[in-house]
Amino acid sequence: MISVEDFVRRYAVDRHNTDSVKWDGMDELFGTNDLLPLWVADTEFKVPEEVTEALKKRIEHGVYGYSKTPDNYYEAYCKWQSERYGTEIQHEWLRFSTGVVQSLSTLVNILTQPDDAVMILQPVYYPFMNVIKQNDRRMVISNLKQDGTSYKMDLEDIKNKIEENHVKLFINCSPHNPVGRVWDKEELEALLELCRQEKVLFISDEIHHDLIVGEKPFTSVLAIKDGLYRDNTVMVDSASKTFNLAALQNSHVVIPNPQVRERYDHYMSQLAAPAGSIIGKIAAEAAYTNGAEWLEGLLQVVRSNYGYLKKSLRTHCPEAVVYDLEGTYLAWIDLSAVIEPEHLEYILKKKAHLAVDFGTMFGKTGKGFIRVNLATTPANIKAATAALLENIQG
Ligand SMILES: Cc1ncc(COP(=O)(O)O)c(C=O)c1O
Repeated sequence: MISVEDFVRRYAVDRHNTDSVKWDGMDELFGTNDLLPLWVADTEFKVPEEVTEALKKRIEHGVYGYSKTPDNYYEAYCKWQSERYGTEIQHEWLRFSTGVVQSLSTLVNILTQPDDAVMILQPVYYPFMNVIKQNDRRMVISNLKQDGTSYKMDLEDIKNKIEENHVKLFINCSPHNPVGRVWDKEELEALLELCRQEKVLFISDEIHHDLIVGEKPFTSVLAIKDGLYRDNTVMVDSASKTFNLAALQNSHVVIPNPQVRERYDHYMSQLAAPAGSIIGKIAAEAAYTNGAEWLEGLLQVVRSNYGYLKKSLRTHCPEAVVYDLEGTYLAWIDLSAVIEPEHLEYILKKKAHLAVDFGTMFGKTGKGFIRVNLATTPANIKAATAALLENIQG
């Protein structure tokens, strides 16, 4: 297997002046481009060579006329899902979209009516809140329960709120951004069973499912109990987070239920909506076909960066709590015992010169936390850790 050092040597690149939101677009949110960016969830690593080769071949052809999904795409994606995770996906369940967030918004429109209640668990990736509010649905929140340096779902609270608010749709993040949980099979099963009994439709955003950092394996909602809950569920994912392909605008909407699929197709035809880009599909197909070893390398880097950050903070400032990381490349850190939450942004931006995501973006319960992107070079994580320690140790 490729070592951390070799992966970094081979794939790390300077992204300045490439129109990167994370590096070149920092000033819009942070007021300057001079911070060390650990915010946007993409990486500082080039894609696997096979992806670049596949793209070059297409670019050299030089024609970008109307295109269909490559025949081998379905095979590559379904094999990846089946062999790595035991998730069986039939070709006809698969639809394409330009992005997962766009699909979440589309699905909220298709599966609910204005003013219907849609439930989420907080803290959570902030576009979940946006797609509910911007489509004039009612947002119902169940807070994740803190459990040492991790989180659990509060099933009793979820059940009570579903009933009180007549919730119609549940959107779950699995693995969970920002708290880093890879949900246990049993937890997912209990949640899916509750939603089935209460007639609540379920969307599972599994975009982080290849980014398994801890020991626990990932289970898709489509695979729970041999697919018992498939009819109640839509799963969305993409190769974009795993392989750093976000700008190529290709993602999946997996809809096993034929009636829901029909409603989806009807809605998309009303919008005359585009179904992903050929460049994105070529890249993702090559990644699913040849990217497994590269992914192992990336995961080694993330594990190593996480280990370094956690050990350094525990040793030098144990009051700064780094939460367990089972999945995603995003560390969730509670700084409330070392920095007054009111001063958090000022200290991180103006003193430590770090661009991180602040916890309150993910909901009220994120107050005092930061989210740090670990999919970067060990040198960047070392520099960020040093800057953090210097400014939180008083
Ligand atoms: C849970 C989750 N869903 C969706 C996305 C973004 O997906 P897309 O760029 O395909 O809209 C992200 C990006 O960080 C994410 O964390």
